Amino acid sequence: MTPILPGATIGFLGGGQLGRMTAFAARSMGYDIQVLDPDAACAARAVASRTITAPFDDIAAAVELAKSCDVVTLEIEQIHPDVLDAVAEHTALRPGRAPVYIIQDRIRQKEWLHAQGFPLGAFVAAASAADVEAAVREHGACIAKSTHGGYDGRGQVRLREPEQAADAWEALGGRTCLVEKMVSIDYEISVMVARRPGGEMAVYPPSRNHHTSGILTWAVIPAVIAPEMSEKAQSLASAITERIGIVGLLAVECFVTTEGELLVNELAPRPHNTYHHSERGLATSQFEQLVRAVCDLPLGSTEVHAPSAIVNLLGEVWLQHEPPHTTHALQVPGSRLHLYGKAGARGGRKMGHLSAVGESAQQALGRVLESYRRLSPETIASFDVHEPVLARSTN
Ligand SMILES: Nc1ncnc2c1ncn2[C@@H]1O[C@H](COP(=O)(O)OP(=O)(O)O)[C@@H](O)[C@H]1O
Ligand SMILES: [Mg+2]
Repeated sequence: MTPILPGATIGFLGGGQLGRMTAFAARSMGYDIQVLDPDAACAARAVASRTITAPFDDIAAAVELAKSCDVVTLEIEQIHPDVLDAVAEHTALRPGRAPVYIIQDRIRQKEWLHAQGFPLGAFVAAASAADVEAAVREHGACIAKSTHGGYDGRGQVRLREPEQAADAWEALGGRTCLVEKMVSIDYEISVMVARRPGGEMAVYPPSRNHHTSGILTWAVIPAVIAPEMSEKAQSLASAITERIGIVGLLAVECFVTTEGELLVNELAPRPHNTYHHSERGLATSQFEQLVRAVCDLPLGSTEVHAPSAIVNLLGEVWLQHEPPHTTHALQVPGSRLHLYGKAGARGGRKMGHLSAVGESAQQALGRVLESYRRLSPETIASFDVHEPVLARSTN
């Protein structure tokens, strides 16, 4: 296979912050960037030489992108399969249709993982409110998730009692949904894997992640977990990557239960919020790694040079009475501010993140949370953003 060398053009289906950060990395390496996104003011626009404004089911627009790009990748999995097929007819599409098709439907994804024998919590595909009710009767507390389009905890309803099934069914639009047993989580980790067209893979060390109401609050690397768990998670993620045959990146989100069991939560065929710290202390950022993988260049080292952490900045930071105290926040040693250039702060909208490096994971996390505290003391008070002691769990 011939590599796609600098000077070539990379196309992105999706121009959000993941596309923007990958585009920055690609630009640094000498590639040109084109983007397709429904929002004319998308975050990646500033980095692209051309932005096509069209919905993700617009085949003609996607073909236009494909025809002027040497390779097309994506930063969002909700792209209609017909669009993926149309792109693949005109240029290299990486990742390809097959893994994206499996991943983009939560039920299809869970059923595929189950059929391949990967470890999962209990789940049910519910086709009616009665199915949701039966699932809660059988499993106790559950989370119902819409099959498509849910992210950052959106499109999810938590249920404690079977009586809540009808409301949950309605809230999810009265459509077939995935119902998962609520897992008793000790901690959450993710593992990022990159894979080239010929099958060469690079596996990152796990990231330890904390969510508040289904949305990522902070992530830190190294994860400070038992080395055996780290290795187990890395081999699980590599096995999934190989089996699904993806080219590009695959993020594998995992739960470690209070019983010490490692379970797959979900997959993402693209850069992932939990690896934004890879831009700071790792030999190769996830964004550069995606460029290398889809251009069929040698993959970079996944070594952690400095423990690194990030905290997400949601729209709430800009909706407070006081504007954020940027100067004060950036006085924290090792900290950096990343903003995605999005106009219009809304509650829950990811506007940027803070990052920090440190001598230990604990110090990096402490620094980034201190930076956040200084940036927006009002916001931190209203969020569950505590700093845990990253002691090695027995699990
Ligand atoms: N079955 C579950 N048991 C316990 N917590 C869960 C479960 N499913 C999701 N969560 C929590 O909600 C978060 C977001 O859910 P997830 O399915 O990953 O959706 P999203 O696509 O929004 O990331 C998870 O990271 C976890 O903290
Ligand atoms: Mg998730």
